[in-house]
Amino acid sequence: MKVQVLGTGYAVPERVLSNAELESMVDTSDEWIVSRTGIRERRIAGKGVVTSDLALRAAEEALARSGISGADLDLIIVATVTPDMMFPSTACILQGKLGATNAAAFDLSAGCTGFLYAMVVAERFLLAGGVNHALVIGAEILSNITDFTDRNTCILFGDGAGAMVLGRGPGPNGILSTYLGADGNGGGLLHMPAGGSWMPASVETVANRLHYIRMQGNEVFKFAVKVIPDCVSRVLSQAGIGIEEVDHLVLHQANLRIMQTAAKRLNVPWDKVLVNIERYGNISAASIPVAVAEAVDEDKIKSGELVLMVGFGAGLTMGAALVRWGR
Ligand code: UT7
Repeated sequence: MKVQVLGTGYAVPERVLSNAELESMVDTSDEWIVSRTGIRERRIAGKGVVTSDLALRAAEEALARSGISGADLDLIIVATVTPDMMFPSTACILQGKLGATNAAAFDLSAGCTGFLYAMVVAERFLLAGGVNHALVIGAEILSNITDFTDRNTCILFGDGAGAMVLGRGPGPNGILSTYLGADGNGGGLLHMPAGGSWMPASVETVANRLHYIRMQGNEVFKFAVKVIPDCVSRVLSQAGIGIEEVDHLVLHQANLRIMQTAAKRLNVPWDKVLVNIERYGNISAASIPVAVAEAVDEDKIKSGELVLMVGFGAGLTMGAALVRWGR
Protein backbone atom coordinates (compact mmCIF):
# COMPACT_ATOMS: atom_id res chain seq x y z
CA MET A 1 0.00 0.00 0.00
CA LYS A 2 1.08 3.52 -0.71
CA VAL A 3 -0.04 6.87 0.62
CA GLN A 4 -1.55 8.86 -2.23
CA VAL A 5 -2.56 12.45 -2.78
CA LEU A 6 -6.33 12.37 -3.30
CA GLY A 7 -6.82 16.08 -3.89
CA THR A 8 -5.16 19.48 -3.64
CA GLY A 9 -6.34 23.02 -2.96
CA TYR A 10 -4.92 26.45 -2.28
CA ALA A 11 -5.97 29.93 -1.28
CA VAL A 12 -4.23 33.29 -1.48
CA PRO A 13 -5.61 36.67 -0.42
CA GLU A 14 -6.77 39.00 -3.20
CA ARG A 15 -4.74 42.01 -2.11
CA VAL A 16 -1.51 42.33 -4.10
CA LEU A 17 1.49 44.13 -2.57
CA SER A 18 3.78 45.16 -5.42
CA ASN A 19 7.46 46.00 -5.36
CA ALA A 20 6.49 49.56 -6.35
CA GLU A 21 4.48 49.89 -3.12
CA LEU A 22 7.42 48.59 -1.09
CA GLU A 23 9.60 51.26 -2.69
CA SER A 24 7.42 53.82 -0.92
CA MET A 25 7.76 52.01 2.44
CA VAL A 26 11.51 51.22 2.70
CA ASP A 27 14.73 52.12 0.91
CA THR A 28 14.55 49.52 -1.87
CA SER A 29 13.83 49.23 -5.58
CA ASP A 30 11.91 46.94 -7.89
CA GLU A 31 15.19 46.31 -9.71
CA TRP A 32 16.96 45.16 -6.50
CA ILE A 33 14.09 42.93 -5.42
CA VAL A 34 13.61 41.27 -8.81
CA SER A 35 17.31 40.73 -9.49
CA ARG A 36 18.13 39.44 -5.95
CA THR A 37 14.99 37.40 -5.27
CA GLY A 38 12.83 37.01 -8.39
CA ILE A 39 9.82 38.40 -6.50
CA ARG A 40 7.56 40.93 -8.27
CA GLU A 41 4.56 40.89 -5.95
CA ARG A 42 3.08 39.03 -3.01
CA ARG A 43 -0.42 38.57 -1.53
CA ILE A 44 -1.34 40.12 1.79
CA ALA A 45 -4.34 39.14 3.92
CA GLY A 46 -6.82 41.85 4.86
CA LYS A 47 -7.44 42.94 8.44
CA GLY A 48 -9.33 40.34 10.42
CA VAL A 49 -8.41 37.43 8.13
CA VAL A 50 -6.70 34.69 10.13
CA THR A 51 -4.54 31.73 9.14
CA SER A 52 -7.39 29.26 9.66
CA ASP A 53 -9.53 31.25 7.18
CA LEU A 54 -7.00 30.71 4.39
CA ALA A 55 -6.49 27.11 5.54
CA LEU A 56 -10.26 26.54 5.39
CA ARG A 57 -10.50 27.75 1.80
CA ALA A 58 -7.59 25.54 0.73
CA ALA A 59 -8.99 22.57 2.67
CA GLU A 60 -12.48 22.87 1.19
CA GLU A 61 -11.04 22.85 -2.30
CA ALA A 62 -8.82 19.84 -1.57
CA LEU A 63 -11.72 17.94 0.03
CA ALA A 64 -14.06 18.69 -2.90
CA ARG A 65 -11.45 17.39 -5.34
CA SER A 66 -10.89 14.28 -3.23
CA GLY A 67 -14.58 13.48 -3.16
CA ILE A 68 -14.65 13.21 0.62
CA SER A 69 -16.20 15.39 3.30
CA GLY A 70 -14.78 16.86 6.48
CA ALA A 71 -16.51 14.12 8.46
CA ASP A 72 -14.42 11.50 6.61
CA LEU A 73 -11.17 12.97 7.94
CA ASP A 74 -9.32 11.13 10.71
CA LEU A 75 -6.41 13.52 11.01
CA ILE A 76 -5.68 17.19 10.37
CA ILE A 77 -2.16 18.62 10.57
CA VAL A 78 -1.55 22.33 10.01
CA ALA A 79 2.05 23.38 9.44
CA THR A 80 2.45 27.03 10.31
CA VAL A 81 4.64 29.58 12.07
CA THR A 82 1.74 32.04 12.15
CA PRO A 83 -1.05 30.22 14.01
CA ASP A 84 -4.31 32.06 14.77
CA MET A 85 -3.13 32.21 18.39
CA MET A 86 -0.65 30.48 20.73
CA PHE A 87 -3.32 27.93 21.63
CA PRO A 88 -5.58 26.20 20.80
CA SER A 89 -3.94 24.97 17.64
CA THR A 90 -4.98 26.32 14.25
CA ALA A 91 -5.66 22.70 13.27
CA CYS A 92 -8.29 22.44 16.03
CA ILE A 93 -9.86 25.75 14.98
CA LEU A 94 -9.94 24.47 11.40
CA GLN A 95 -11.36 21.12 12.52
CA GLY A 96 -14.29 23.03 14.05
CA LYS A 97 -14.80 25.19 10.96
CA LEU A 98 -14.75 22.11 8.71
CA GLY A 99 -17.07 20.07 10.92
CA ALA A 100 -14.41 17.36 10.83
CA THR A 101 -15.70 15.89 14.07
CA ASN A 102 -13.89 12.55 13.67
CA ALA A 103 -10.44 14.03 13.14
CA ALA A 104 -7.57 14.39 15.56
CA ALA A 105 -5.95 17.76 14.96
CA PHE A 106 -2.64 19.40 15.77
CA ASP A 107 -0.21 22.02 14.50
CA LEU A 108 3.36 21.40 13.52
CA SER A 109 6.17 23.94 13.51
CA ALA A 110 9.03 23.28 11.13
CA GLY A 111 9.32 26.63 9.37
CA CYS A 112 9.24 26.55 5.62
CA THR A 113 9.76 22.76 5.67
CA GLY A 114 6.57 22.48 7.72
CA PHE A 115 4.38 21.13 4.96
CA LEU A 116 6.79 18.29 4.17
CA TYR A 117 7.10 17.47 7.87
CA ALA A 118 3.28 17.34 8.08
CA MET A 119 3.07 15.17 4.99
CA VAL A 120 5.57 12.66 6.36
CA VAL A 121 3.86 12.51 9.78
CA ALA A 122 0.49 11.93 8.08
CA GLU A 123 2.03 9.29 5.82
CA ARG A 124 3.24 7.35 8.87
CA PHE A 125 -0.22 7.54 10.50
CA LEU A 126 -1.84 6.31 7.29
CA LEU A 127 0.61 3.42 6.90
CA ALA A 128 0.24 2.40 10.54
CA GLY A 129 -3.54 2.02 10.11
CA GLY A 130 -6.38 3.56 12.09
CA VAL A 131 -6.21 6.72 9.99
CA ASN A 132 -7.79 6.46 6.53
CA HIS A 133 -7.91 10.08 5.42
CA ALA A 134 -5.60 12.89 6.47
CA LEU A 135 -5.66 16.58 5.62
CA VAL A 136 -2.25 18.26 5.57
CA ILE A 137 -1.97 22.00 5.21
CA GLY A 138 0.69 24.66 5.09
CA ALA A 139 -0.88 28.01 5.96
CA GLU A 140 0.66 31.35 6.81
CA ILE A 141 -0.16 34.98 7.36
CA LEU A 142 3.45 36.10 7.42
CA SER A 143 2.46 39.74 6.86
CA ASN A 144 1.44 39.82 10.54
CA ILE A 145 4.99 39.00 11.68
CA THR A 146 6.82 40.94 8.97
CA ASP A 147 8.56 44.17 9.96
CA PHE A 148 7.59 46.55 7.19
CA THR A 149 10.38 48.90 8.27
CA ASP A 150 13.09 46.25 7.67
CA ARG A 151 14.09 46.11 4.00
CA ASN A 152 16.09 42.93 4.56
CA THR A 153 12.95 40.91 5.19
CA CYS A 154 9.79 42.82 4.26
CA ILE A 155 10.29 42.39 0.54
CA LEU A 156 10.33 38.60 0.82
CA PHE A 157 7.21 37.33 2.51
CA GLY A 158 3.56 36.83 1.62
CA ASP A 159 0.39 35.05 2.77
CA GLY A 160 -1.38 31.92 1.56
CA ALA A 161 -2.39 28.33 2.24
CA GLY A 162 -2.02 25.03 0.41
CA ALA A 163 -3.69 21.72 1.24
CA MET A 164 -3.55 18.05 0.30
CA VAL A 165 -5.89 15.23 1.27
CA LEU A 166 -3.98 11.99 1.69
CA GLY A 167 -5.34 8.46 1.59
CA ARG A 168 -4.14 4.91 0.92
CA GLY A 169 -4.09 2.95 -2.32
CA PRO A 170 -2.40 -0.08 -3.86
CA GLY A 171 0.08 1.95 -5.92
CA PRO A 172 2.13 2.30 -8.05
CA ASN A 173 1.16 5.94 -7.52
CA GLY A 174 1.85 7.51 -4.14
CA ILE A 175 4.65 8.67 -1.87
CA LEU A 176 7.79 6.74 -2.85
CA SER A 177 10.36 8.11 -0.41
CA THR A 178 10.85 10.91 2.09
CA TYR A 179 13.56 12.56 4.15
CA LEU A 180 13.38 14.99 7.06
CA GLY A 181 16.30 16.64 8.78
CA ALA A 182 17.21 19.49 11.10
CA ASP A 183 20.15 21.56 12.31
CA GLY A 184 19.01 23.10 15.57
CA ASN A 185 22.24 25.02 16.02
CA GLY A 186 21.23 27.26 13.14
CA GLY A 187 17.97 28.31 14.78
CA GLY A 188 19.15 31.86 15.42
CA LEU A 189 19.58 32.53 11.70
CA LEU A 190 15.84 32.73 11.17
CA HIS A 191 13.46 33.30 14.04
CA MET A 192 10.89 35.47 15.75
CA PRO A 193 12.47 36.25 19.13
CA ALA A 194 9.53 37.30 21.29
CA GLY A 195 6.13 35.92 22.22
CA GLY A 196 7.25 32.58 23.66
CA SER A 197 8.71 31.58 27.03
CA TRP A 198 12.14 32.97 26.10
CA MET A 199 10.87 36.54 25.69
CA PRO A 200 7.25 36.74 26.82
CA ALA A 201 5.29 39.55 25.23
CA SER A 202 5.80 42.82 27.08
CA VAL A 203 5.75 46.55 26.40
CA GLU A 204 9.53 46.30 25.84
CA THR A 205 9.37 43.44 23.34
CA VAL A 206 6.79 45.33 21.32
CA ALA A 207 8.77 48.59 21.50
CA ASN A 208 11.92 46.75 20.40
CA ARG A 209 10.14 45.17 17.42
CA LEU A 210 10.90 41.66 18.62
CA HIS A 211 7.62 40.13 17.42
CA TYR A 212 8.80 40.10 13.83
CA ILE A 213 10.84 37.75 11.63
CA ARG A 214 14.59 38.19 12.02
CA MET A 215 16.76 36.58 9.39
CA GLN A 216 20.42 36.44 8.39
CA GLY A 217 19.48 36.00 4.76
CA ASN A 218 22.87 35.24 3.26
CA GLU A 219 23.58 32.49 5.84
CA VAL A 220 20.19 30.90 5.18
CA PHE A 221 20.90 31.18 1.46
CA LYS A 222 24.15 29.19 1.87
CA PHE A 223 22.38 26.60 4.02
CA ALA A 224 19.66 26.15 1.38
CA VAL A 225 22.05 25.72 -1.50
CA LYS A 226 24.01 23.14 0.52
CA VAL A 227 21.12 21.01 1.79
CA ILE A 228 18.89 20.85 -1.30
CA PRO A 229 21.17 18.45 -3.26
CA ASP A 230 21.65 16.31 -0.14
CA CYS A 231 17.88 16.01 0.44
CA VAL A 232 17.37 15.15 -3.21
CA SER A 233 20.04 12.45 -3.33
CA ARG A 234 18.62 10.85 -0.18
CA VAL A 235 15.07 10.46 -1.52
CA LEU A 236 16.19 9.44 -5.00
CA SER A 237 18.53 6.73 -3.76
CA GLN A 238 15.90 5.48 -1.30
CA ALA A 239 13.45 5.09 -4.20
CA GLY A 240 16.07 3.84 -6.69
CA ILE A 241 15.16 6.60 -9.12
CA GLY A 242 17.46 8.81 -11.20
CA ILE A 243 17.11 12.60 -11.25
CA GLU A 244 16.46 12.47 -15.02
CA GLU A 245 13.25 10.53 -14.35
CA VAL A 246 11.79 13.34 -12.21
CA ASP A 247 9.09 15.29 -14.08
CA HIS A 248 8.60 18.23 -11.68
CA LEU A 249 10.96 19.72 -9.13
CA VAL A 250 9.08 21.74 -6.50
CA LEU A 251 11.52 23.70 -4.36
CA HIS A 252 10.49 25.90 -1.47
CA GLN A 253 9.98 29.30 -3.11
CA ALA A 254 12.36 31.43 -1.04
CA ASN A 255 14.58 32.99 -3.68
CA LEU A 256 14.75 32.48 -7.44
CA ARG A 257 18.56 32.43 -7.27
CA ILE A 258 18.47 29.54 -4.78
CA MET A 259 16.18 27.66 -7.15
CA GLN A 260 18.37 28.37 -10.19
CA THR A 261 21.53 27.33 -8.36
CA ALA A 262 19.92 24.14 -7.09
CA ALA A 263 18.50 23.19 -10.49
CA LYS A 264 21.91 23.73 -12.06
CA ARG A 265 23.73 21.65 -9.43
CA LEU A 266 21.16 18.89 -9.76
CA ASN A 267 21.26 19.02 -13.54
CA VAL A 268 17.50 19.51 -13.73
CA PRO A 269 16.30 21.45 -16.80
CA TRP A 270 14.63 24.72 -15.79
CA ASP A 271 11.32 23.81 -17.49
CA LYS A 272 10.90 21.02 -14.92
CA VAL A 273 11.06 23.48 -12.00
CA LEU A 274 7.74 24.85 -10.72
CA VAL A 275 8.04 28.58 -10.07
CA ASN A 276 5.49 30.97 -8.59
CA ILE A 277 7.77 33.09 -6.40
CA GLU A 278 7.39 36.08 -8.73
CA ARG A 279 3.68 36.29 -7.81
CA TYR A 280 3.58 35.13 -4.19
CA GLY A 281 7.02 35.67 -2.66
CA ASN A 282 7.98 33.35 0.18
CA ILE A 283 4.91 31.92 1.94
CA SER A 284 6.86 29.59 4.21
CA ALA A 285 4.97 26.36 4.93
CA ALA A 286 2.38 27.21 2.26
CA SER A 287 4.96 27.60 -0.48
CA ILE A 288 5.25 23.99 -1.68
CA PRO A 289 1.57 22.96 -1.48
CA VAL A 290 0.45 26.19 -3.20
CA ALA A 291 2.94 25.61 -6.04
CA VAL A 292 1.78 21.99 -6.41
CA ALA A 293 -1.94 22.81 -6.22
CA GLU A 294 -1.57 25.56 -8.80
CA ALA A 295 0.30 23.22 -11.16
CA VAL A 296 -2.39 20.56 -10.71
CA ASP A 297 -5.08 23.14 -11.51
CA GLU A 298 -3.18 24.14 -14.63
CA ASP A 299 -2.93 20.47 -15.63
CA LYS A 300 0.86 20.65 -15.51
CA ILE A 301 1.15 17.69 -13.13
CA LYS A 302 -0.39 14.53 -14.51
CA SER A 303 -1.14 11.12 -13.05
CA GLY A 304 1.89 8.85 -13.05
CA GLU A 305 4.40 11.72 -13.15
CA LEU A 306 7.19 12.01 -10.61
CA VAL A 307 7.03 15.07 -8.38
CA LEU A 308 10.02 15.87 -6.18
CA MET A 309 9.37 18.39 -3.38
CA VAL A 310 12.23 19.91 -1.39
CA GLY A 311 11.96 22.28 1.55
CA PHE A 312 14.30 24.18 3.88
CA GLY A 313 13.78 26.85 6.48
CA ALA A 314 13.55 27.91 10.10
CA GLY A 315 14.76 25.40 12.65
CA LEU A 316 16.85 25.05 10.66
CA THR A 317 14.97 22.27 8.93
CA MET A 318 15.12 20.51 5.60
CA GLY A 319 13.25 17.72 3.90
CA ALA A 320 12.10 16.15 0.68
CA ALA A 321 9.37 13.90 -0.65
CA LEU A 322 9.23 11.99 -3.92
CA VAL A 323 5.70 11.26 -5.09
CA ARG A 324 4.38 9.41 -8.11
CA TRP A 325 1.35 11.56 -8.72
CA GLY A 326 -2.22 10.32 -8.75
CA ARG A 327 -4.37 7.78 -6.97
O1 UT7 B 1 12.08 30.67 3.75
C1 UT7 B 1 13.13 30.49 4.63
C2 UT7 B 1 14.38 30.50 3.95
N1 UT7 B 1 14.78 31.83 3.61
C3 UT7 B 1 15.62 32.02 2.64
O2 UT7 B 1 15.96 31.07 1.98
C4 UT7 B 1 16.20 33.37 2.38
C5 UT7 B 1 17.55 33.22 1.80
N2 UT7 B 1 18.24 34.46 1.60
C6 UT7 B 1 17.97 35.31 0.58
O3 UT7 B 1 17.03 35.08 -0.18
C7 UT7 B 1 18.88 36.47 0.38
O4 UT7 B 1 19.95 36.35 1.27
C8 UT7 B 1 18.20 37.85 0.56
C9 UT7 B 1 17.27 38.11 -0.62
C10 UT7 B 1 17.44 37.89 1.85
C11 UT7 B 1 19.26 38.94 0.55
O5 UT7 B 1 20.01 38.89 -0.64
P1 UT7 B 1 21.60 38.90 -0.58
O6 UT7 B 1 22.07 38.89 -1.97
O7 UT7 B 1 22.03 37.76 0.31
O8 UT7 B 1 21.91 40.30 0.05
P2 UT7 B 1 22.67 40.66 1.43
O9 UT7 B 1 21.81 40.31 2.59
O10 UT7 B 1 24.05 40.07 1.38
O11 UT7 B 1 22.77 42.22 1.30
C12 UT7 B 1 23.47 42.86 0.23
C13 UT7 B 1 23.20 44.33 0.28
C14 UT7 B 1 23.36 44.95 1.66
O12 UT7 B 1 23.94 46.22 1.50
P3 UT7 B 1 25.49 46.46 1.81
O13 UT7 B 1 25.68 46.04 3.25
O14 UT7 B 1 26.23 45.58 0.85
O15 UT7 B 1 25.65 47.91 1.56
C15 UT7 B 1 21.94 45.10 2.15
O16 UT7 B 1 21.79 46.14 3.06
O17 UT7 B 1 21.84 44.60 -0.12
C16 UT7 B 1 21.23 45.43 0.87
N3 UT7 B 1 19.80 45.13 0.91
C17 UT7 B 1 18.90 45.77 0.14
N4 UT7 B 1 19.02 46.74 -0.77
C18 UT7 B 1 17.89 47.17 -1.39
C19 UT7 B 1 19.17 44.20 1.67
N5 UT7 B 1 17.86 44.24 1.42
C20 UT7 B 1 17.66 45.20 0.48
C21 UT7 B 1 16.52 45.69 -0.20
N6 UT7 B 1 16.68 46.66 -1.10
N7 UT7 B 1 15.28 45.19 0.05
